[in-house]
Amino acid sequence: MITTVTLNPAEDKTFTAARLILGQVNRIDSVKNIAGGKGINVTKVLRQYGYPVRALGFLGGYTGKFIEDYVKSIGAECLFTYVDGETRVNINILSQDGYVTELLEPGPDIREKELDAFFEDFNKGIADSDLVILSGSAPEHVPAAVYYDLILQAKNKGKKVILDSSGIYLKESINACPYMVKPNIRELEVLSGRRIKRMEDAIGAALQIGGRGINHVMVSMGAKGLLYINDREIMYAKAPEVKAVNTVGCGDSVVAAFAVAEKQGMGNEELLKFCVGVSAANATTLESAVIPMDKTEELIEQVKIIRY
Ligand SMILES: Nc1ncnc2c1ncn2[C@@H]1O[C@H](COP(=O)(O)OP(=O)(O)OP(=O)(O)O)[C@@H](O)[C@H]1O
Ligand SMILES: [Mg+2]
Repeated sequence: MITTVTLNPAEDKTFTAARLILGQVNRIDSVKNIAGGKGINVTKVLRQYGYPVRALGFLGGYTGKFIEDYVKSIGAECLFTYVDGETRVNINILSQDGYVTELLEPGPDIREKELDAFFEDFNKGIADSDLVILSGSAPEHVPAAVYYDLILQAKNKGKKVILDSSGIYLKESINACPYMVKPNIRELEVLSGRRIKRMEDAIGAALQIGGRGINHVMVSMGAKGLLYINDREIMYAKAPEVKAVNTVGCGDSVVAAFAVAEKQGMGNEELLKFCVGVSAANATTLESAVIPMDKTEELIEQVKIIRY
């Protein structure tokens, strides 16, 4: 079993419209609603590879129910913690004049007793999992060090923890030393306090993070690819060139692919190629975290590795 945690899931609504005019009535041509949030995306990819997954996090209201129904429909187990507030809806408006307008809700306020309930659910939810994946940021009133506590709890029970977060949530938890961390360049800058312009900068910062006792550091660099560091190896994998349709969820695809590779006992070079191939494949589909399996094999074969 693999446990995923999404503290701030969202329903992603995509509207298309001819144009959007502020202060006027705007008619929408089409609507597409999907369950989103980084850990939900990881869950989606893991289910496509057929792994049993249990999804945890905060949900509330009708939107929460929509997300739970979706997660069940893809065959994942749900152990969400229900809160009084309402799960957020993020609106993306694509207008024909080329503008993309986003309206992002903050998410529900989490009360102290709801946070306590989540920690209880987490304890239960990880019991039979060997891998625990913590993704994304958190809603209001969740302490910045939430992942620090969750990582220690899971590690105490012998679980491997994968962390993919940003800003304060990442910075406050890194000293708990997860098994794997996947910052992008911006997140690595925040973590290391250094500007990253060249590959050497990224390697230096990743070594500094890994040196604290994290087994695997993966730095994602968008279309450029992925840098991988452990205590013996430094490898860079260039991403294959693809016609990118939607790169949202590429980071989540790397995280899910890492978990698959770990389950399959892949060596580090194979693992790195797999993560880059799967995330490049994600970029070719319109819906986030949908991996076209037929293209993935071919993309994995195209990945070139440079050792430093
Ligand atoms: N245009 C692209 N073409 C090929 N591969 C890509 C492209 N964009 C991203 N990838 C692959 O996906 C990986 C993760 O992407 P990225 O660095 O954008 O993650 P991220 O910033 O964490 O994204 P998010 O948090 O939105 O999922 C990259 O390391 C790369 O291997
Ligand atoms: Mg990311």
